Amino acid sequence: MVEPILRLENIKTYYILRKGLFGKLIVKAVDGVSLEFRPGEIIAIVGESGCGKTTLGRTSLKLVEPVAGKIIFEGQDITHYKGDLKWFRKKAQIVFQDPFQALNPYHSIYDILSEPLIIFGEKDKSVIEDKIVKALKEVKMTPPEEFLTKYPHMLSGGQRQRIVIARALLLDPIYLVADEPVSMIDASSRAEILTLFRSIQKKREMSIMYITHDIATTKYFSDWIAVMYAGKIIEYGPTREVLKNPLHPYTKALIAAVPDPDPENRFKMRPVVPGEPPNPINPPPGCRFHPRCPRRFDPCDKEEPPLKEVEKNHYVACFLFK
Ligand SMILES: Nc1ncnc2c1ncn2[C@@H]1O[C@H](COP(=O)(O)OP(=O)(O)O)[C@@H](O)[C@H]1O
Ligand code: SF4
Ligand SMILES: [Mg+2]
Repeated sequence: MVEPILRLENIKTYYILRKGLFGKLIVKAVDGVSLEFRPGEIIAIVGESGCGKTTLGRTSLKLVEPVAGKIIFEGQDITHYKGDLKWFRKKAQIVFQDPFQALNPYHSIYDILSEPLIIFGEKDKSVIEDKIVKALKEVKMTPPEEFLTKYPHMLSGGQRQRIVIARALLLDPIYLVADEPVSMIDASSRAEILTLFRSIQKKREMSIMYITHDIATTKYFSDWIAVMYAGKIIEYGPTREVLKNPLHPYTKALIAAVPDPDPENRFKMRPVVPGEPPNPINPPPGCRFHPRCPRRFDPCDKEEPPLKEVEKNHYVACFLFK
């Protein structure tokens, strides 16, 4: 069995909101998630807005501290590691959702791409230039020389996201969090960027946490799907298997979701799960999905279903599957 690059063990990440002078509310954004990333594998984290995907990604990068659980990176427990994290920051990168905000509008593409190299100690200008040219070629921005002196506003959304990806790759990460990397760019460029991303990832054998609210985009991109609901994984399995044979009623509803026909909402999915998304401050007792579940029955509002392997490598947390 190949050793995982990253292992998340029963991660809980809570936010504390102050209320008045003495009161406080606890937002249970991630509430007991375990996952393993083996080299060269992409795991898609799928679920509605607010279910804890971004918090999970940020926790895995140590950008936010979990209240419980462990983060094991290359065999080392880094959960509460307080020393110099530069080695980790180099090997674990993030691609943000919004390429418009991720790039400084006053910096040229050359400045944007040289920055991480300089921060990590590279001083030789010709080495920096070589690496930048190579990275631009890798994301198919050619001829690279044409882009070096440009500024972000001179590029399309798709091109900007390629720059964001190139910047993340410059330090040769082995693990990358891609948080909704194509949701803010034009629909016509999305498939192209995901395909490019996938081919780069395969060549480099990187592991990726691919965060998305749109389960349809996992089809050609991820190896595994983890469906999150209210801070928990409620279904996990190989992408093809989960898409072909979804077991959890929530996953079924996500797969049945269709793009909203209103052009104003063209990046949104029309909700097909009736009812309100769960409140992470007061999650319902029992199965967190029970208030919205069309299949709920007797124990569902009292006990919490555990995540169980019901077919080979296919896990589900639902009492319909014993
Ligand atoms: N910095 C924060 N402080 C307080 N609550 C937060 C913070 N970030 C996220 N949350 C809350 O945590 C929950 C999960 O958010 P998030 O991880 O962003 O989910 P997703 O990426 O799936 O939309 C939401 O209820 C959100 O409002
Ligand atoms: S455990 Fe019950 S409420 Fe939860 S998804 Fe399964 S059937 Fe629905
Ligand atoms: Mg998010």
